Amino acid sequence: MQGKTVVITGATSGIGQVAAERLAAMGARMVLVARDKARGEATLARVRQAGGGAAHSVHYADLSRLSEMKRVAAEIAAAEPRIDVLINNAGALFGSRQLTEDGLELTFALNHMSYFVLTHGLRERLQASAPARVINTASDAHKGEKLDFSDLQSASNYRGLHVYGRSKLCNILYTSELARRWTGTGVTAHSLHPGFVATRFGDESGGMLSVGVRIAKTFAISQEKGAETIVYLASSGDSEVTGASGLYFYKCRPATPTREARDEDSARKLWQESERIAGMAG
Ligand SMILES: NC(=O)c1ccc[n+]([C@@H]2O[C@H](COP(=O)([O-])OP(=O)(O)OC[C@H]3O[C@@H](n4cnc5c(N)ncnc54)[C@H](OP(=O)(O)O)[C@@H]3O)[C@@H](O)[C@H]2O)c1
Repeated sequence: MQGKTVVITGATSGIGQVAAERLAAMGARMVLVARDKARGEATLARVRQAGGGAAHSVHYADLSRLSEMKRVAAEIAAAEPRIDVLINNAGALFGSRQLTEDGLELTFALNHMSYFVLTHGLRERLQASAPARVINTASDAHKGEKLDFSDLQSASNYRGLHVYGRSKLCNILYTSELARRWTGTGVTAHSLHPGFVATRFGDESGGMLSVGVRIAKTFAISQEKGAETIVYLASSGDSEVTGASGLYFYKCRPATPTREARDEDSARKLWQESERIAGMAG
């Protein structure tokens, strides 16, 4: 990873933090996107310690707000002449329905729209840096879920785990559509399931959901193990990573997501809806 620049969201905690440190240790220059100053500075210090040679940096943004997603993407594009890898990883689970300032349901805004808007905002840099990669942290929580295009903001019958699962379904659909649309650009895109990992995930979901996730985490794998597939996708020269695009990985191997996650019509519709929501074209 010597000489490579890697942009990563959600690196102030959990699997993102471990991945950022590992990639820095492999020689990459890390560009972090964080929302909290204290956690951002602390992570930057850890990344510097892991990989001292490079000029790592941090940018701040609340990735649940469209204006912040766009601002930080523009800021990074202006600061970075090249971007070799973009890792969209920030995400969360919310026990109750909350709306963002844009009128979007919070899980959908943070877990899906931030991936869409950040990637779009860094498109020129990524394509100019080809061969480059986009890596989207998804989840097996997409299993059993289906998108309802008449209610993408989950206005009716909000259930946190299902809404979370649908946002992760969005991650897989978005990745495959991105791969199709960016064919021939030299930028590949893959999504992944990290496993069920003992991170801060779920701690702030609220109510019984937090209690349930905390109990379930007794059986979870370590953050180090959970970060492995991200690090693999960011750094591997294997042909199944570099020679393919739009795949879903688990345990550093291509895996098959559900039929709903492979539905090209849904992927296209989601892209169009996301463009409309973000007020972006192309
Ligand atoms: N843990 C699991 O079992 C599991 C399983 C499958 C998939 N995943 C996925 O893995 C990814 C990382 O999760 P994790 O398990 O490592 O959880 P985590 O420890 O809670 O980390 C989540 C990261 O997202 C950031 N974040 C949350 N809200 C944000 C916002 N509004 N703006 C900017 N950043 C924000 C957090 O920042 P702060 O430090 O400021 O809170 C943190 O860096 C997520 O996409 C999650 O869906 C996790």
